Amino acid sequence: MNEMNERYPFLRACHRQPTKYTPIWLMRQAGRYMKEYRTLRKKFSFLEMCKNPELAAEVTLLPVEKFQLDAAIIFSDILIPLEPMGVELEFTKNEGPVLHNPIREMKQIDSLRMIEPEEDLLFLIEAIRIVRQELEGKIPLIGFSGAPFTLASYIIEGGHSKNYILTKGLMYKDRSAWDRLMEKISEVLIRYLNAQIRSGVQALQLFDSWVGCLSPNDYEEYVLPYSKKVIEGVDKSVPMIHFATSSSTLLEQMKRAGGDVIGVDWRVNLGEAWARMGYNMAIQGNLDPIVLLGQRDLIEKEVKRILDEAGGRPGHIFNLGHGILPNTPVDHVTALVNIVHEYSSRR
Ligand code: CP3
Repeated sequence: MNEMNERYPFLRACHRQPTKYTPIWLMRQAGRYMKEYRTLRKKFSFLEMCKNPELAAEVTLLPVEKFQLDAAIIFSDILIPLEPMGVELEFTKNEGPVLHNPIREMKQIDSLRMIEPEEDLLFLIEAIRIVRQELEGKIPLIGFSGAPFTLASYIIEGGHSKNYILTKGLMYKDRSAWDRLMEKISEVLIRYLNAQIRSGVQALQLFDSWVGCLSPNDYEEYVLPYSKKVIEGVDKSVPMIHFATSSSTLLEQMKRAGGDVIGVDWRVNLGEAWARMGYNMAIQGNLDPIVLLGQRDLIEKEVKRILDEAGGRPGHIFNLGHGILPNTPVDHVTALVNIVHEYSSRR
């Protein structure tokens, strides 16, 4: 970690160095629970917002201006790099993301293109530059991507899936097609994440949101080599947060796949997860986002429990266990950030 970055509690925690208080940021911190976001969304579609650098930068900064967050995350989506690969992407009002030409056989996999981030995704590069400039070094900026399995599931299913029947179908029935697809996605992600570092992000998060649907055996066999390849292929100058949900059965393997920080959801106790992975690893998490819909005393009780489980050890980054929900009251987010900072600094 260079000297400039030494002063950020978030980056210190990524490197398991002591901090004055536990740093906090929230997955999906710029989103529909903020009225400023909803106002902008009346004028622009989600993809328009992602693809306009000034707008994406503005949205990135909305929660940073409102809450005492310890990191910003660039406004984009894990599905953004799929478009230049040749996947037709749409965000629909009711179904969420829809990919109009799902990829299910070798011929289609072969037709997927490699990306040149600085050309194909210049809007993201520019958004990162603008945000870094506007943050004026106040807090660090996180870049991100989906992990190979989670992206493969969208590419194969054509959208969100309940049982991942087609994804697992390809995995089980056509090993060489699966490997070819995962290989291609991994190469795209290495380019994509390194381009984000070159543009100025100071940390990265790999979202393997849906990998918890796999058995530990299948994770080991079909996924771990690719997540590992991506993490190893990314420049080591910035810390990597490796996040998944429903992953309490996979923590040791995720650790082996790599990352400086492992992100966990609320289905596992943070104290137990950390003990299992070992304290030579930083950990991020893990408040149930639904707790933010409850009263302040519930929020306080749950925050204290999680901070007590972390036990004041260096290397804990507070976050939700998954993205913040659209109906979250804004003043509960203010309360959450303050409680985390106050209680952890008193410990
Ligand atoms: O965290 C942040 O604030 C940065 C921005 C960000 C978004 N999506 C913005 C977004 C990040 C990091 C993501 C990651 C993402 N996108 C994931 C991984 C994290 C997770 O939740 O597991 C996944 C699976 C996606 C795919 C995706 N994008 C879905 C399933 C949806 C629809 C669901 C929904 O909440 O509507 C999106 C849309 C999306 N991505 C929105 C935002 C703010 C809502 C768009 C809107 O305004 O309608």
